[in-house]
Amino acid sequence: MEKVRLTQMVKTAGCAAKLFPFILTEALKDIDWYTDENVIVGFSGKDDAGIYKINDDLALIHTTDFFTPVVDDPYTFGQIASANSLSDVYAMGGTPLNALNIVAFPQTEDINILKEILRGGNDKAKEAECVILGGHSVDIPSILYGLAVTGKINPKNIKGNDTAKPGDILILTKALGTGLLNNSIKYKSPPEEITKKLISSMCRLNKNAAELMVKYDANGCTDVTGFGLAGHSMQMALASKVVFSINVYDLPVLPGAFWAIKEKLLTRGDKSNRTYTELNVVNSGNIDLAKEHLLYDPQTSGGLLISVPEKNAEALLKELINSGDEDSKIVGIVGAPAPDNKEGMIIFNFSN
Ligand code: CO
Ligand code: CO
Repeated sequence: MEKVRLTQMVKTAGCAAKLFPFILTEALKDIDWYTDENVIVGFSGKDDAGIYKINDDLALIHTTDFFTPVVDDPYTFGQIASANSLSDVYAMGGTPLNALNIVAFPQTEDINILKEILRGGNDKAKEAECVILGGHSVDIPSILYGLAVTGKINPKNIKGNDTAKPGDILILTKALGTGLLNNSIKYKSPPEEITKKLISSMCRLNKNAAELMVKYDANGCTDVTGFGLAGHSMQMALASKVVFSINVYDLPVLPGAFWAIKEKLLTRGDKSNRTYTELNVVNSGNIDLAKEHLLYDPQTSGGLLISVPEKNAEALLKELINSGDEDSKIVGIVGAPAPDNKEGMIIFNFSN
């Protein structure tokens, strides 16, 4: 197969290519979205996936995600896109059942590239025990890949983004910096130890993390993707009507992320995620500008942000680390809104 660098074929990569939130909000508003009484989770709370009730013990989780190549190797890209698509089922505490491929590919290109992308996607789905039933493809100039995933959950066990409780501890299960580092693959050739760790993190399923958060009775969860830690924290704090206090010096960071910041490899999401969250973010302590960029970096196949009762936090963290989610860290606490800190506020604490 001819060596084509997939990342050179795209403008913005991975979850960094999301529509800006204010544009999406504008497009969605004023439409009278048809609904019925079985919708448990729909548009309103900006949660990770939709949930539709079948009966009192069974609901279906539906989610889709697809994006442009974040790495040059097609098989690896397929794995990352698949892991990322499955993640929103895990973020709700559910189990993936089946999926459909979503494919855009310029058919004048080497078709073996597409074959490798699909093989990577299938291998990750297999690891998730999720059957790919079919899909849809279009011939357009850019490459896109992802899945529309269906999962299942008992409606009583949903880990929404609206159920974080004051007093909870926040755990993040993957290190930050994928947007910056994906950009570094596109524009510079980072050393192999940096790309190796980045790729293994993006390829890792959130399956283990999801099973453990269910085991340890987490109150709520979301996965950290295109809107960055700041954006997804804000959505969860707003939906849960709480305040998040996050210690910036406790955040897990991918090797090379600070190098990428120094090289000014910021994605466009850095700016749009700041704008998106500016009314809700408060910084305390002396702001370290390099660390601040991490908070807004769009993540591709990022980790789970778990809100867990304090009594279970240490045990959950220990088991996460010992079972392969080794970058997991306690990153903050959940507080009740008070007169001086309104609900939905994120306090980034820059003192160590
Ligand atoms: Co999500
Ligand atoms: Co998505």
